[in-house]
Amino acid sequence: MRSFVQRALVGLGMVAAGVGVGFVGRAWHASMLPGTYNAMDFGRIEFGGGPPVPHSGSLSVAKLLGPREAPDARFRLVARQADVRLASGHVVHALTFDGRSPGPELRVHQGDLVEVVLENDDVDGGVTIHWHGVDVPNAEDGVAGVTQDAVRPGERYTYRFRATRAGTYWYHSHQISDSEVRRGLFGAFVVLPREPLPPGTLDLIVVAHDFGGTLTLGSSDRVERRAVGPGTPVRLRLVNSLGRPLTFRVGPTPYRVLAIDGVDLNAPSPLRGTKLVLAGGGRYDIGFTMPAQPAALELAGSDASLALSPDGHADPPPLEAETEFDPARYGRPAPTPFGPTARFDRTFTMPIGKKLGFMDGHVGFHWSLNGRVYPHVPMFVVERGDLVKVEIANKTSSVHPMHLHGHHALVLSRDGKPTTGSPWWVDTLDVDPGQRVEIAFRADNPGIWMDHCHNLRHAAAGLTMHVAYAGVSTPFALGGRSRNRPE
Ligand code: C2O
Ligand code: CU
Repeated sequence: MRSFVQRALVGLGMVAAGVGVGFVGRAWHASMLPGTYNAMDFGRIEFGGGPPVPHSGSLSVAKLLGPREAPDARFRLVARQADVRLASGHVVHALTFDGRSPGPELRVHQGDLVEVVLENDDVDGGVTIHWHGVDVPNAEDGVAGVTQDAVRPGERYTYRFRATRAGTYWYHSHQISDSEVRRGLFGAFVVLPREPLPPGTLDLIVVAHDFGGTLTLGSSDRVERRAVGPGTPVRLRLVNSLGRPLTFRVGPTPYRVLAIDGVDLNAPSPLRGTKLVLAGGGRYDIGFTMPAQPAALELAGSDASLALSPDGHADPPPLEAETEFDPARYGRPAPTPFGPTARFDRTFTMPIGKKLGFMDGHVGFHWSLNGRVYPHVPMFVVERGDLVKVEIANKTSSVHPMHLHGHHALVLSRDGKPTTGSPWWVDTLDVDPGQRVEIAFRADNPGIWMDHCHNLRHAAAGLTMHVAYAGVSTPFALGGRSRNRPE
């Protein structure tokens, strides 16, 4: 016979377990995503210390369109499955724009009104085009379920925007983007400056990718040789289409980093023996004058490189690169529309963590933003005209390339230390494990904007949130039944 005490303890234990199961069961149930939902239904509204404003309202993102007049530059991109042959002969069954990956290089001139017609031939999951780094009107931003519906096979969608800022950008699908970008749905987008580049410039776009474990520059996984006459000004536009940082070496001739994320740097000095670590989704434009000896660009950890030489036959010269390029102290300061001491209308904190819990019914360690797991992550609400500061703190052991749509942000400080070089504007910023960065932007482009990790696998696993302008709403739906899945 068990004693009364024993029986009482067992009873209490069962009650506690019941309460526990009930609690966990509720948490599990609460984490389930509905079949369809609106981007504005979830998220914990934050005002960043500014006045509370109605976060949703009567202005639909679908009305925030680009100009309607006749375009200056017109393109048609057809999304379809195709076999892509790399330089080594290796064939990849890819998702492509126009049968190629990277897709066609789109080059326009500053000020052009650009029209791009996207047609989906046979990409079953649907496709969109996001103009990464181009601060387009919200309806042209290409986010499935937030700014448009994914374009199904047999359908089309037209994007229109003015290319106001010169620089190096890229485009990619923002539907099931983790898998579609990895499989090839991306390309480069370049806005040539109003002031032409120096005459005779060799202006090359170099998009780095990883096709199923094979690192590539363009569609080459080998040494690519080119004849370039000594004295030729060379501009290499490096684009990292991956979710992780990539290391490039350039030389042996000295070179400069001319632009980051499409924005020219002030007074960039020559670099030698310096490697470049480029954030996933980020861009560096580098420049040098072709010497009489060979020069090269190498992608670390790969067989892909670019060898430039007067006769076009030279092997890439060996490159030494001891130090790492640091954009926080490169170039010289220049006036900016606001700085670290400005009066910010709203200041948000964005701690990135990992947390044991449920996401869509799955238990595990999930990414968290401000202590909450998707979709209960914060929603930063701003008003048009606000000067906004965001403090990002990476409390995880992974690097997160954080990307805000629709805006360029000025990097103010890193680990409490103010940046000291050229103004450093970004749309995609690597935040290293343990690092804290402060960025600021002017809220001058109304809409509902994704703000997410460009390691798209992280984004698909919940490292994604929105910056929403007061009074804006979206008619589009997310979730399985809507068939819109931005990540
Ligand atoms: Cu390059 Cu949200 O995207
Ligand atoms: Cu990440």
